[in-house]
Amino acid sequence: MKYWFRVAEGDDREWSARLMAGMDPWLRLGRSYEDRLEKCGHPEYTLLIEVGEKGRAGCALLHPRGVAGSPYVASIAVAPEARGEGAGTALLDYAENYFEGARHMFLCVSSFNPRARALYERLGYELVGELKDYAMEGASEFLMVKRLGGR
Ligand SMILES: CC(C)(COP(=O)(O)OP(=O)(O)OC[C@H]1O[C@@H](n2cnc3c(N)ncnc32)[C@H](O)[C@@H]1OP(=O)(O)O)[C@@H](O)C(=O)NCCC(=O)NCCS
Repeated sequence: MKYWFRVAEGDDREWSARLMAGMDPWLRLGRSYEDRLEKCGHPEYTLLIEVGEKGRAGCALLHPRGVAGSPYVASIAVAPEARGEGAGTALLDYAENYFEGARHMFLCVSSFNPRARALYERLGYELVGELKDYAMEGASEFLMVKRLGGR
């Protein structure tokens, strides 16, 4: 599958907020559409949009210096109908190359999201810490990092 990427424009922010607010982990974490919309439009963050042959497939919200001065993937989501075809992998790859000169990329994954964690591990992310009861009581956020090759 071929994908194109752009920084959010037009109604991309609303589309991304609606996508995230309607799925786990954000449903389980109690993150509303309004919360997501605020995050997606926050001036410190960059919202990337992934477009496939059938239209918008996913989005990633990045902070350029989110953890220890390195870029951080705050959120990543692929539309349910576009999953399992490499869209998430392609989006993460684009995000890893987005900030020129970055040597590491950080992200967090919830303890109740083992499939996403497995994907990140396959793509080279390593666990660096567990934040207990961080995004919600009774669950952890696992902080992961990837060393970006050759830079
Ligand atoms: C995680 C996610 C971005 C991956 O996108 P994708 O296009 O499905 O990913 P790819 O096709 O490149 O890779 C497939 C892998 O993604 C993971 N995955 C697939 N569906 C998933 C889901 N509903 N939730 C979490 N991870 C999922 C699995 O590891 C899968 O590999 P498998 O089929 O061998 O188990 C996407 O599934 C998604 O948006 N999930 C819901 C939101 C989410 O969990 N976001 C991550 C928050 S940290």
